[in-house]
Amino acid sequence: MANGNDELYPVPTEIASRAHLDKAGYEAMYRRSIENPEAFWAEQAERFIHWFRPWDRVMDWDFKEPRIRWFEGAELNVSYNCIDRHLETRGDKTAIIWEGDEPGDTRRFSYRELHEAVCRLANGLRARGVRRGDRVCIYMPMVPEAAIAMLACTRIGAIHSVVFGGFSPHALRDRILDADCKLVITADQGVRGGKIVPLKENTDKAVTECPGVETVVVLRRTGAEVPSSPDRDIDYHELVEDMEPHCEAEPMDAEDPLFILYTSGSTGKPKGVLHSTGGYILQAAMTHHYVFDYHEEDIYWCTADVGWVTGHSYIVYGPLANGATTLMFEGVPTYPDASRHWDIVDRHQVNIYYTAPTAIRALMRAGNEPVQQYSRKSLRILGTVGEPINPEAWNWYHQVVGDGRCPVVDTWWQTETGAIMIAPLPGATDLKPGSATRPFFGVQPALMDADGRELEGEAAGNLVIKGSWPSQMRTVYGDHERFAQTYFSAYPGLYFTGDGARRDADGYWWITGRVDDVLNISGHRLGTAEVESALVLHPAVAEAAVVGYPHDVKGQGIYAYVTLMAGKEGSDELSDELMDLVRDEIGAIARPDIIQWAPGLPKTRSGKIMRRILRKIAADELDTLGDTSTLADPGVVDNLIDNRIKPD
Ligand code: WTA
Repeated sequence: MANGNDELYPVPTEIASRAHLDKAGYEAMYRRSIENPEAFWAEQAERFIHWFRPWDRVMDWDFKEPRIRWFEGAELNVSYNCIDRHLETRGDKTAIIWEGDEPGDTRRFSYRELHEAVCRLANGLRARGVRRGDRVCIYMPMVPEAAIAMLACTRIGAIHSVVFGGFSPHALRDRILDADCKLVITADQGVRGGKIVPLKENTDKAVTECPGVETVVVLRRTGAEVPSSPDRDIDYHELVEDMEPHCEAEPMDAEDPLFILYTSGSTGKPKGVLHSTGGYILQAAMTHHYVFDYHEEDIYWCTADVGWVTGHSYIVYGPLANGATTLMFEGVPTYPDASRHWDIVDRHQVNIYYTAPTAIRALMRAGNEPVQQYSRKSLRILGTVGEPINPEAWNWYHQVVGDGRCPVVDTWWQTETGAIMIAPLPGATDLKPGSATRPFFGVQPALMDADGRELEGEAAGNLVIKGSWPSQMRTVYGDHERFAQTYFSAYPGLYFTGDGARRDADGYWWITGRVDDVLNISGHRLGTAEVESALVLHPAVAEAAVVGYPHDVKGQGIYAYVTLMAGKEGSDELSDELMDLVRDEIGAIARPDIIQWAPGLPKTRSGKIMRRILRKIAADELDTLGDTSTLADPGVVDNLIDNRIKPD
């Protein structure tokens, strides 16, 4: 966390000697990206992407409307960029290495095999009536077919909406309905950490309430008996087996929608973040190249799930656009034991490893021994994303996992930004543990105070971005007004990230975490309002207020204050029931860690819950409670303090 830790780790000479860019190179390129963005982005677009037709205009944006357009008039296809253009030179190169939940259960797809698999499925989707612009929901385990499904959609211009396999039937239903998907791709079951995930059963529950879904494609992953509706369901292999292994890639406009991905905000239901084609694939490819200092022969592994944006940009699109070998892992870091990742690193000779602070902390807890049993000599670059990394975890990652040899790239970005925005470049940036360091090309971060004044120099405030970048989200699907409200109303003319940050005397950026009501649980975004809405579904619950509190492994845990209906008594059973209710409504990641019975909640005289106070109580920071005199009934705070529950 931003604690002013200013220890400096200079670029190692071995890294510098082969890196794409050194310090001077970064500075020069960054300057050009800001001073002459049109020329800069045109050059990058020509270098990284294959276009069927050039653009008429590089960029055209106005945050007041808001309107964001990049490479207008140009045509391209993402699947073509990720597969076809590599066939001549990299046809036999491995595109995807898959490692299953059980150690050693592996599959490989060369670029040629990937091409065939994607074409067959693309033809299969067309055969089931999917057309350009239609929405397809992907609710899959971490298997190659998840990536194949995404690429097959992009090949025919269908818009995919990947829903994380850990989400509940209700969460799935809401997302299918919001995007009006006509087809769902799922599996019989998923397998994670030795446990079964009932994906088809969940899908069945969800789609009974989704009249627009005409087809459910079911991949056999475990082969378990699962119910089937013959009119609606089709087996994945049956669908693709008779299809042609060729399918022309549909020329798409640069601004045509590419995918929708739901993410949580401070209010209401999760919103469908819409990304478009040209700008997204350019920045995904370019950041993958520079931030991980990717080279042709590298084996690259991002441990995220394809259900999150990190999986989209850094398991599938960025690496494949660059012709890389990307490793996809089905399991969890601690199964069968805490050395699993290092076993994978050694067996597949991974050079670039990209994970999240929560995984690093979980592995750190298991001690150094499981790491040191393995050589890890192949590792060159380590990456982190998802939440602020505390310097202890950073140091352990650097010292123990990387033997002090490998730069740690701490990458700050968001579902909304589509690609990495602030991060070091391995050959160019000296590191400070806990700092995401410097902005990527074309990105202009700035700090604002609560009154809308920009802060200069060394300062802390709300993080905004000045000007557009190619992979910026274009709208909230079906609700452009919400897009305007959420990101452009706090500071007119600027994109507001929802994060707080500090800029130090060297111009380094330290992200301090969300300043809104968004929780970050193990790097997963969750709105307090979503958890609260689930809790109040229970007939015994009158009101609920949810806040985050510091958690050793998850970063934040979920602390819920619950007011019961008159006459109802709190009990351990009821507490468990409520926790399970939230899990069933949203998914296991949303299950509260702590529930405290609250006879009353601290509210202002106008009835607004003062979460600041609830956060302080949950974090046990009672000496900094702040002013409680504006509360309607200051007495409720004493009761909450007396009965607060400390984490185990
Ligand atoms: C947080 C994940 C500090 C931040 C790519 C952001 C980070 C939210 C970092 C986005 C980082 C992500 N340091 N905080 N390196 N990376 N965050 O949409 O609060 O799932 O706003 O995208 O995660 O989460 P999302």
